[in-house]
Amino acid sequence: MRILPILKHALCSLPLFLTATAAFAQNEIIVGEFASLTGGSASFGQSSHKGTQLAIDELNAAGGVLGRKFKLITEDDQSLAGQPATIVRKLITQDKAIAILGEVASSKSLEAAPICQQNNIPMISPASTNPKVTEVGNYVFRICFIDPFQGTVMSKFALGKGYKKVALLTDVKQDYSVGLSEFFVKHFTANGGAIVKDQKFSTGDKDFKAQLTSIKTTKPDAIFVPGYYGEVALIAKQARQLGIKVPLLGGDGWVGDSLLKVAGNSLDGCFFSSHFSAEDKTPAVQDFVKKYQAKYGQAPDDMGALGYDSAMILADAIKRAGGTDGAKLRDAIAATKDYKAITGVITIDEKRNASKSAVIMAIENAGFKFLETVAP
Ligand code: PHE
Repeated sequence: MRILPILKHALCSLPLFLTATAAFAQNEIIVGEFASLTGGSASFGQSSHKGTQLAIDELNAAGGVLGRKFKLITEDDQSLAGQPATIVRKLITQDKAIAILGEVASSKSLEAAPICQQNNIPMISPASTNPKVTEVGNYVFRICFIDPFQGTVMSKFALGKGYKKVALLTDVKQDYSVGLSEFFVKHFTANGGAIVKDQKFSTGDKDFKAQLTSIKTTKPDAIFVPGYYGEVALIAKQARQLGIKVPLLGGDGWVGDSLLKVAGNSLDGCFFSSHFSAEDKTPAVQDFVKKYQAKYGQAPDDMGALGYDSAMILADAIKRAGGTDGAKLRDAIAATKDYKAITGVITIDEKRNASKSAVIMAIENAGFKFLETVAP
């Protein structure tokens, strides 16, 4: 019988408890993330998500910002065209995300950007480098460099190596690939290089022998392949099978352990540009590498570091905006200046892009090797 008063008390305070939980939940800062956790570019989405989650966990462990904790809602776009629009609309209208983080692949970011823009919800892409992404509107940002820079970096590198005749192999299904080829060619041909062959493929292709055979007849000094790791690995293997010995050159789309798992030694002696190297000895980078390693049992790649930076920059902007109102938050992100991120010092320029250094990586004995940093 003694239990009764306690029960009564508990029942009376239940509504109070519920209201308090609801209020607490309302107080959470809901951040939406869309990423390719499965499918052809799963390596991109899994890494960027790991970095983003690490940042959110750290922020929450430190009490959140403005006394509010973060809730990260992540949706998988399965690496499929068409998915980003659907899931980002859901994140904004249903989950009430106050900002969107993602994607890595430019074509995916380009799909989601108009939806964020229409809803006045800021979007920060960690890694999409095609210039068109942020041109969608004033709510769309990125924290990485853009492809006119990346293309120039690789063209200068090729010219510096003495490569005069280069063949192209471009993925026509990716805005990233089409753009990066274009920017490479612009600089390369303006500086004495010649494009001896211009071949195409589509995301998901498995057989590249026809294109490679036609490239081989032109005897290039190198082949520029600005694709994503899945196709690049197969291209490299098939090129070697056909007796093509010249180096392949590429961009950040090569990043990911999966590249070398499939390519084996066929990319030895090849080079690509990217954003970050875990070999960087700066204390901030080494500290990040340690934390990431402890949580996930693996070293971070570029997308891991960029994902982390994108969430941290959002949190910093929320703090400066004093809240999560879309317009104020947009202004605060746009005002990001000299933010010391893991992937470099980030200042958002008037076109909502970041001007940052690139790194050039070499591949030796089926492993990545940091070669040099190239300032913008
Ligand atoms: N920059 C690529 C794009 O725009 C994506 C990417 C970034 C891939 C970083 C790997 C590493 O599509």
